[in-house]
This record gives sequence, C-alpha cells and structure tokens, in this order.
Amino acid sequence: MNKLKSLGFCQYKLREILSYDGLDNDLSKLIESFNHLPEDPYGKGLNRFRRYSRAIILPDKQSIEWLPSVEINGVKYSEYFQGRFNPEHVDSYRRFPSLSETIMQNNLLKKIILFDFKQTFWRKEDILLPVHVGVHFVKLLVENKNDKAISSPNNLHQDGEPFTFAHLIKRENVIGGLNAISTPENAGKLPNQVSEKELHNIFEISEPLDSYGVYDPLVSHYVSPIEKGIEDKPGVRSVILIDFQPTVVANVNEIKNIDVDQLVMV
Ligand SMILES: [Fe+2]
Repeated sequence: MNKLKSLGFCQYKLREILSYDGLDNDLSKLIESFNHLPEDPYGKGLNRFRRYSRAIILPDKQSIEWLPSVEINGVKYSEYFQGRFNPEHVDSYRRFPSLSETIMQNNLLKKIILFDFKQTFWRKEDILLPVHVGVHFVKLLVENKNDKAISSPNNLHQDGEPFTFAHLIKRENVIGGLNAISTPENAGKLPNQVSEKELHNIFEISEPLDSYGVYDPLVSHYVSPIEKGIEDKPGVRSVILIDFQPTVVANVNEIKNIDVDQLVMV
C-alpha cells in the first residue's frame, strides 16, 4: 500500500532503503555543504540559512536536469514561486542562492530525488511533460540560550506543490523541531489548536536520512521552532526539502493580458 497516496503522508528510513557503497562518503559531502549556507535573505536574523535550485525530471527517462540559475553580482540565484500558499510571501517570487555544481552532481542527492519521485503519482497527461523539482537545503542554527529558529510558515500549512519530501541531514543539540500532520482545513492553525482526532501524526526525525513525504492536497503539515539543547555547543537542524510539481501549460487568456514589452526573447 502506498501510504502517501492513501493517507497523504509517509515516513521513510532512507539510509536503510538506499544503502549502497559510498553512501556515507556522499552523505558527509552533503553534511559539509550545510556549513556554507548563506542566511535566508527573507528571514534575516531568524537563524535560518538556505540554498535552493531547480531541476526537471523527464518521467520516462527518470533523469535529472538542473535548470540554469541567474547570476547577480557574481552570486548564482534560483527563483522560487509558491503562489498563494505561503501566507508570509503571498504571490511573490523569492530568490535564493543556488546549490553548488558539485552538490548538484552528488550521487546521494540524485538518488534521494529519484527515490522521492518514484513515490509520486500523477495524471497521465502530466507525466508526458517534465516534472519540476525544487531542492531546498535549509539549516536552522541556534547559538545562544534563548535563541529560536523558526520554519516558514510557522503554522500548519500546505506548500502549493503536489508533493514535498523532507530529509534530515543533521540534528544536533536541539530542542523542538517536532513535525505534525493534520487535515487541509486546519492550515493556518498551530497543532495545539487542533483536536487530537484531526492530528494524523506527531513525530520527530532524528537520524540522518530520516525522511517523510506529504501529498499536499490531502494534508497540512508543520514543524515547530527549535531552541538550543543542554550541551555547550550550537544547536543545528539541517534538512533537504524536495518538492515536485507538474509543468503548467500557459493559459492563453492570461498571456494576452501581458504587455509584450515585458516578455523576453528565448
Ligand atoms: Fe511546508
């Protein structure tokens, strides 16, 4: 039974599922890359650091093709659009620094993306076209006792992409980071504002490559803020978030209202 399809969410132990020679080596490179994440430009001072890149998968070939980024002042960026679903950034583009070329070619990252893709399900016509993949590296880092690091948005929500998967990379000296899954109707609330029977699950991902996926139309999801634990070192929670969405075919009625001067040549 595909739990993602029937319940709208599923947990995976990817370290065991993917197990191959060289996994630990590839994982250590992913872990290391989290030391070089810039601060989230949309969450300054919130102890949040991130990079983001986009790729497409050709469904019949199951191959990953990374999309080019834009370069601004020598820094490569990828643009991100979440429509109306993130209440903190409604209908706006966000732009994040891209993943490095080396990380895009990391064997484990590719295996994770393809594993996630294999769990997904689509209308027949949607998989005649490329499926779009967004890959976010997100680190919450708390260095002082009363610091808090908060995920965006900080309530039960839907992402707007049909599928999102989260893969833990590192969790160290952290209190919090509790995941909750509820019904779509509870989007906008906190888990403690929701009745027990509408909370499908509450869980923590604690080991590297502990993972879960959500099918957005069926559930809302949440991760609680983190604080520094009792050890005398920073608290860190690093995850890779991977979302999938179909190619959206342009609506001619929308295009005809756009000033042609705003359109760019290929
Ligand atoms: Fe989310």
